[in-house]
Amino acid sequence: MVQVNGNYLKLKAGYLFPEIARRVNAYSESNPDTNLIRLGIGDVTEPLPLACCQAMKEAIEEMATNNGFHGYGPEQGYLWLREAIAENAFQSRGCKIAEDEIFVSDGSKCDSSNILDIIGDGNRIAVTDPVYPVYVDSNVMAGNTGFSGSNSRYEGLSYIALDATNGFVAEIPTSPVDLIYLCFPNNPTGAVATKEHLADWVEYAIKNNALILFDAAYEAFITDPSLPHSIFEIDGARECAIEFRSFSKNAGFTGTRCAYTVIPKSLKGKTANGEAVDLWSLWNRRQSTKFNGVSYIVQRGAQAAFSLDGKSQIEKLVHFYMENAQIIRNQLSKSGFEVYGGQNAPYVWIGAPNGISSWDFFDLLLNKANVVGTPGSGFGAAGEGYFRLSAFNSRKNVEEAMQRIVRI
Ligand code: MLT
Repeated sequence: MVQVNGNYLKLKAGYLFPEIARRVNAYSESNPDTNLIRLGIGDVTEPLPLACCQAMKEAIEEMATNNGFHGYGPEQGYLWLREAIAENAFQSRGCKIAEDEIFVSDGSKCDSSNILDIIGDGNRIAVTDPVYPVYVDSNVMAGNTGFSGSNSRYEGLSYIALDATNGFVAEIPTSPVDLIYLCFPNNPTGAVATKEHLADWVEYAIKNNALILFDAAYEAFITDPSLPHSIFEIDGARECAIEFRSFSKNAGFTGTRCAYTVIPKSLKGKTANGEAVDLWSLWNRRQSTKFNGVSYIVQRGAQAAFSLDGKSQIEKLVHFYMENAQIIRNQLSKSGFEVYGGQNAPYVWIGAPNGISSWDFFDLLLNKANVVGTPGSGFGAAGEGYFRLSAFNSRKNVEEAMQRIVRI
């Protein structure tokens, strides 16, 4: 028999969202007529922007011709898409990111896990708690942790607790770490990082020769103009950070699949002997070996997200979801819930009422309100007692879900 990767056996339970789906399916099977409203997984519900659909239709037509057919594309992504990203997402904000520092991919979830392929053993790794579970589980799979203890935390990882007393903002560690995962606007708490806060992280990373993996998948939901959309808005970040971005939540590409990762050419890691190595070159090598790029059709759709029409359609979509977030915030705070986030992020983070546990509140909402959310403890031990509601749904469903929740 083949020997398996034993690290997988250290994983505590199923991945959070399939586990929720399992419980929801079990409930639906016994209650087939129930109209469940799903505010759990952050999956968009509104149709794709017309500009993106139009571009994809044209790309399909092109593919049906001899001249317009495209086979394998460049592993890093087509130049025209990388140019549009560099200009619109970075240079327009004063970030010095060039098109050859952008790697187009099929998702930030994949990139933020796959990046561990180019990271060696023995690094001290810090994650926040609560945290997007992919960062933790991918480190467990890669053998970067021990087993999980009774507090559900894995040996070998440093956890930075986020809670109401620190505004769910990641405090700078007092001891050195080598690799830090940050996500702002934050999944799951909806908290944001100011420029000053990110500048402190960049200063810390440079001082400690650390690498920051910055997940900015929700940057489009920032409404406060003073907040940074990219870590590269901070001086020095080119020497210490990789950024993950996605078309999933802003342009509704969760099912279409397109994202990108930014690795500055100035970014270095070191060999076991202490020699400096370019991380860009290693990632380029990894991608050209293990990845064949995103389809031509989808990349044309992503490019259209930066057209005038595309930008205005995306702005409307984002605004629509943020109005949902506002409705969730208002209704729940009026009913006495402790409410956080939802102002610059599509997630609202609430305290489970009367001190009940996150999973008990999940079951209560499922059974009594027929509303699905995400238990905070699924994002880490410090998420216990909290609950995440996603603003991704139709207006009708969000309004109905709020009525049902406040009635229980
Ligand atoms: C979430 O609900 O946290 C997101 O959908 C996760 C993801 O984007 O993979």
